[in-house]
Amino acid sequence: MCGIVGYSGPQSAALPLIQGLRRLEYRGYDSAGIALGTPGTLFIEKKAGKLSNLENALDASLPTVHSGIGHTRWATHGGPTDRNAHPHVDNDGKLAVIHNGIIENYSELRATLQARGHKFSSETDTESVAHLLSDLRKEHKGDLAGAMCDAVKLLRGSFTLVAIHADNPDVVVGVRRNSPLVVGLGKGENFMASDVAAFIDYTKRAIELGQDEVVTMTPTSVVITNLKGAVIVPKEYEISWDATAAQKGGFNHFMLKEIFEQPKAVADTLIGRLSDNKQIVLDELHMSIEEIRALKKITVIACGTAYHAGMLAKYAIEKWAKIPVEVEIASEYRYRDPIVDPQTLVIAISQSGETMDTLMALRHAKSAGARVFAICNTHSSTIPRESDAVLYTHAGPEIAVASTKAFLTQIIAVYLIGLHLAQINGALKDVQVEELYNELLELPGKIEQILQTAEPLRALTRTFAHNNIVLFLGRNIGYPVALEGALKLKELAYIHAEGFAGGELKHGPIALIDSGTPVIAILPVGDEHGLNEKMLSNIQEVKARGARVIVITEEGANIEGAEHIIRIPVVPALLQPILATVPLQLFAYEMALARGNDVDQPRNLAKSVTVE
Ligand code: M6R
Repeated sequence: MCGIVGYSGPQSAALPLIQGLRRLEYRGYDSAGIALGTPGTLFIEKKAGKLSNLENALDASLPTVHSGIGHTRWATHGGPTDRNAHPHVDNDGKLAVIHNGIIENYSELRATLQARGHKFSSETDTESVAHLLSDLRKEHKGDLAGAMCDAVKLLRGSFTLVAIHADNPDVVVGVRRNSPLVVGLGKGENFMASDVAAFIDYTKRAIELGQDEVVTMTPTSVVITNLKGAVIVPKEYEISWDATAAQKGGFNHFMLKEIFEQPKAVADTLIGRLSDNKQIVLDELHMSIEEIRALKKITVIACGTAYHAGMLAKYAIEKWAKIPVEVEIASEYRYRDPIVDPQTLVIAISQSGETMDTLMALRHAKSAGARVFAICNTHSSTIPRESDAVLYTHAGPEIAVASTKAFLTQIIAVYLIGLHLAQINGALKDVQVEELYNELLELPGKIEQILQTAEPLRALTRTFAHNNIVLFLGRNIGYPVALEGALKLKELAYIHAEGFAGGELKHGPIALIDSGTPVIAILPVGDEHGLNEKMLSNIQEVKARGARVIVITEEGANIEGAEHIIRIPVVPALLQPILATVPLQLFAYEMALARGNDVDQPRNLAKSVTVE
């Protein structure tokens, strides 16, 4: 939520700042702005709308200076206007600040600062920080870092703040609390950003800032302190992916590129997980055999797409490992006195590792005594750092707001956990685990097959472009797939899309069916519990009421009543969601295109949701 970038070095600062903002635009795209370190008074330009509006406004008279800060916004306090766009400045126009997060006590601060004579020009929470820093910097005799330390002590909420002052324009100061900030270490130049993607073109050396740490950077130095000013020796790391991972690589959209990267992402997440003696290798769990056997319950916390992966964790872990699993929407979890104890394993699933709802749920679980395990795609982000242990998915950077490859790899991760626990509990024999693992290994090839034969589905989708409602039906493990298909369609096509458990249809949702209503049904694999037949009945029921039915089913299955059949390769029942999701991703992608929507940056959304 909001992308932040800072630069100090020999380049004309506008270049790395704009380049960084392009890479961070996925975090928010309501407005964008930059402040350049022109001595005397800062150069400020900011514009409502996408980054391209700002780029168009930056004309040839752009000053060539060597430091600056930039911001791309997802609006919280104050609408997406030029005035509310960041950076925000003090009344002298000398100090500028950018912010990601929410300052909860901003109205008290604003009243105090107004009483001291400060004039406000926006409706944002952030502007209070600009005025506050301005006063504190004077008290600190021009020391911006000292002012930042004191300012943070007065703030409540979650924030990354980065500031610059015209009197010392080479110095860029940042701080973070519950919101990300990374430092990029270049040769004679340094960077700050919400995400390494912003500076990956210039350096692969990075430092992750800890909670309440303040960083002061110039072209040749980076100093990190705590809020008392004590110097902290940072841990440097090497970024493992290169700039091409953050580019579209010949695809029209990041989403399509990421859909097509799924075979590799799944393979990378699976690789090396079965030892020669047929044991699932999951050292990341950091739990002894005794601790695993003593587990009474697993609770999965997650949001959005990651929550759907959590639902699949329940099916897999309960079936394979016989351990009860509950799945909670993270934003609801801590408000209902959940029962947690040291024999509860809490699994937090998050692509970004920064989702505030999941982070707060995780903290609640930890404080109640649970062991917390993260499944995450983003290295060194807050959720894994605050968890007892972490299993990283290897999807690579996911830039499109709609999550695709992260979802598939999250399912793989929870399935690996399920198999590992089952093996330790003795609920599955080694030979069964090996068989399932081998089936998992075949998934990349099967996903590839779906992708290579998807053109008819894409053409078919375009015929639904005018529909303003699409319903998805699933039973058992097809139910989370239905929910995921509907979520993708909502966020990309901006239409009413709902996923239902097939059995619930007759309890209300069937009233939505009208002549021509598209219904996408995920037909269960095999006929355990007669589910297949029941879903076929559901298909007949909606068809009888005029629905246009698309069925997703395995090769060879015999279906009557479907207007269109999308075939996916045969897999064991629990693995079907990994394949059945792929056509639904493509369906949502094509619908967005056909309706003229922005695929990678759907309206009102942001990739990383760092507010509650
Ligand atoms: O980064 P996270 O996995 O924690 O994000 C959770 C949700 O915000 C995310 O999955 C969201 O629902 C996606 N945009 C859906 O495509």
